[in-house]
Amino acid sequence: MNRFRLGPVIMLLLVGFIVSCAEESDNRDRPSGEMNADSPIRIGFSIATDTFIIERWNKDIKVFNSAATELGADVLLQMSAGGTQAQIEQIRYLLTQEIDVLVVLPHDTDMLAGVVRAANDRDIPVISYDRLIQGVPVRAFISFDNEEVGRLFGKALTEAVPEGRYLIVNGSIRDNNSYRVNSGLHEVIQPYVERGDIEIVEEIWLEAWSSDEARERIGEVLERTTDIDAISAGNDQIANAAIQLLSERRMAEEVAVVGQDADLLSTQRVVEGLQLMTVYKPIHKLATRAVELAVAIAEDEAPEPDRYTTNDSGVEIPFYVEEPQAVFSWNMDDTIIRDGFHSAEDVYRTIRREDDTAQN
Ligand code: GAL
Repeated sequence: MNRFRLGPVIMLLLVGFIVSCAEESDNRDRPSGEMNADSPIRIGFSIATDTFIIERWNKDIKVFNSAATELGADVLLQMSAGGTQAQIEQIRYLLTQEIDVLVVLPHDTDMLAGVVRAANDRDIPVISYDRLIQGVPVRAFISFDNEEVGRLFGKALTEAVPEGRYLIVNGSIRDNNSYRVNSGLHEVIQPYVERGDIEIVEEIWLEAWSSDEARERIGEVLERTTDIDAISAGNDQIANAAIQLLSERRMAEEVAVVGQDADLLSTQRVVEGLQLMTVYKPIHKLATRAVELAVAIAEDEAPEPDRYTTNDSGVEIPFYVEEPQAVFSWNMDDTIIRDGFHSAEDVYRTIRREDDTAQN
């Protein structure tokens, strides 16, 4: 290639290099909230879970993305089932991508303080999504009232089994929500325990949100005793593992089981009468509100929080709270079906309802 033709190539490379440096410095120096008029707000969204097979997170992502599109914001999604180290790497990458706000579903709520501090140092506001990151100030926490989830567990079980032997299977010890739900559950059942009406056969905590681990741990309990009248499961995957094990022992219809997330499988177990209740958390409300909050914070116009909470960071955290709902067979249509969370066809697939038979 002769020198003359090489000239334009060198020029292009030089321009490219200057632009990229400018962007880099722009990224380093641009405080969030000062958006170029024509550049959409960029939301970094980091999700790390134990496994991909937890149904609800796909809904969160779908709603989050469509809500961001509605508001003209860009979402840079980083999702992995690789646990905490993968999430730390995800977040470090997002911090280099000129984001205006960072939304994080933490895998381990105790292990992200360092990388969140890096975001704070770059003046990138962090919103803790669904689970509260501990030990470092975050700009906001948006979730459901997780204590109320536990109270709904307790109310459903004590109404169905006011006297009996309870197995409590809590969620991941790495998830602050597990402790919040547990606190609400014990708040309701404690008086029954003190009166001697309820006996807690065993209380176990899982290492992760894993149905395999749930199956193994619950199986060990059932090997020791099948004299159990009620099971409080940290989520629907755990509830389903319990129901499978009970079914193998022909006990499924004798034990009241509750969970949360309104997974499709659990809504089917509820209408079949094999799961007493699932706590429904309207994901469309949470994810949409999270995007609205992220945009508002990026524009320095955050609304007043519903309340404040703490996370061992020494500062009060603005808490934006959505309410959970207890779903039984009798109110399935007025909640899950009405919201379009699952279709009636899917929920009732495994049973025939009275009116169905009347139509045929
Ligand atoms: C928790 C959340 C539950 C459930 C669980 C994983 O943090 O509060 O609703 O999604 O993760 O199944």
